[in-house]
Amino acid sequence: MSIRISIIGFGAVGQGIADALMRTDYPIEVVAIVDSRGAVVDAAGVDLASALQRKRVTGAVAAADADAAGMTALDIIAGVDHEIMVEATPTDIITGGIGLSHIRGAFESGRHVVTSNKGPLVVAYSELCGIARKNDLHFRFEATVGGAMPAINLSNEALAGNRIISIEGVLNGTCNYILTRMDDEGVSYKHALGEAQELGIAEADPSADVDGIDTAAKIVILANSVFGMDAGYDDVDVTGITKITPESFKLAKEEGHTIKLIGEIRNGVLKVAPKMVPKNHPLSIGGTFNLASIQTELAGRITIGGIGAGSVETASAVLSDILWIEQAIRD
Ligand SMILES: NC(=O)c1ccc[n+]([C@@H]2O[C@H](COP(=O)([O-])OP(=O)(O)OC[C@H]3O[C@@H](n4cnc5c(N)ncnc54)[C@H](OP(=O)(O)O)[C@@H]3O)[C@@H](O)[C@H]2O)c1
Repeated sequence: MSIRISIIGFGAVGQGIADALMRTDYPIEVVAIVDSRGAVVDAAGVDLASALQRKRVTGAVAAADADAAGMTALDIIAGVDHEIMVEATPTDIITGGIGLSHIRGAFESGRHVVTSNKGPLVVAYSELCGIARKNDLHFRFEATVGGAMPAINLSNEALAGNRIISIEGVLNGTCNYILTRMDDEGVSYKHALGEAQELGIAEADPSADVDGIDTAAKIVILANSVFGMDAGYDDVDVTGITKITPESFKLAKEEGHTIKLIGEIRNGVLKVAPKMVPKNHPLSIGGTFNLASIQTELAGRITIGGIGAGSVETASAVLSDILWIEQAIRD
């Protein structure tokens, strides 16, 4: 029997999930999709190709004349039978945003949750884990850190039995692109940012990335989920990349180093700051890539890298969480 899921939020990630599901024959049935303008519901399985096409053409996933068109995410979560709610609405790391209400609602309605949305985890990680545990439900969020790169599940599952001593990582593709260009071309921060904006790698308002906020949110999620801490955003010491000059790169280069924005968790301290990294160190990865270097007690240092964002790339992490739950509840 197929596992039934809802997709709440049908932007880059939500559409990537639909796209990924169309490429596979896993026993996963999408019974509802919601965006900010309405919903499409079909207990027998939403026609994903039509939903994607409608979203592309009209901007809305709901067919204007359908019964479900006026339903909100909370209506779907409470009222449509399904096992897993997949949450992919915009992140708000100050309040948790609508994603937080969706996840609380899903647990209250007996749904397992998979999310790519950092906000609810940064604001209410222990509360959400508590409700999930109390209701015997699974809560998975691999896509919140590093897109396609499976840092959380690697640390907690593949490396089970190891004490994780520290994690340091390049966790923001936009910053990494800017710093790579500054290093390669000797250009200013402003120039590299403009280039990233032209290429669509940086937002028009890049502050969440360049001020280190996004990396700090990921560090909070790793601290809570891998190290069992109860950290919030204010527990991270955050410095962004906006003050780095071409001269800083020149000095770093003279010593065979480059500069990376590194998020790290070590000895209970959470920090995000630009750091000199030897050119031949694994963290010296270029472009928009993400990388996490995990220091373990038994296995030594394990380093993984991957594409930190993108529609189907992020869907890859979501899909692996859905399939993990499908397996866990199948028997
Ligand atoms: N994109 C990535 O590569 C990536 C990677 C890792 C994590 N994430 C995280 O994943 C989440 C989704 O990212 P995204 O890039 O897909 O964002 P996005 O393209 O902005 O899509 C967000 C979706 O949420 C919908 N939405 C907004 N308010 C809603 C509401 N009240 N009820 C139902 N749906 C609502 C939007 O509807 P409309 O379409 O009608 O506007 C849109 O479909 C974010 O939290 C992001 O930080 C993204």
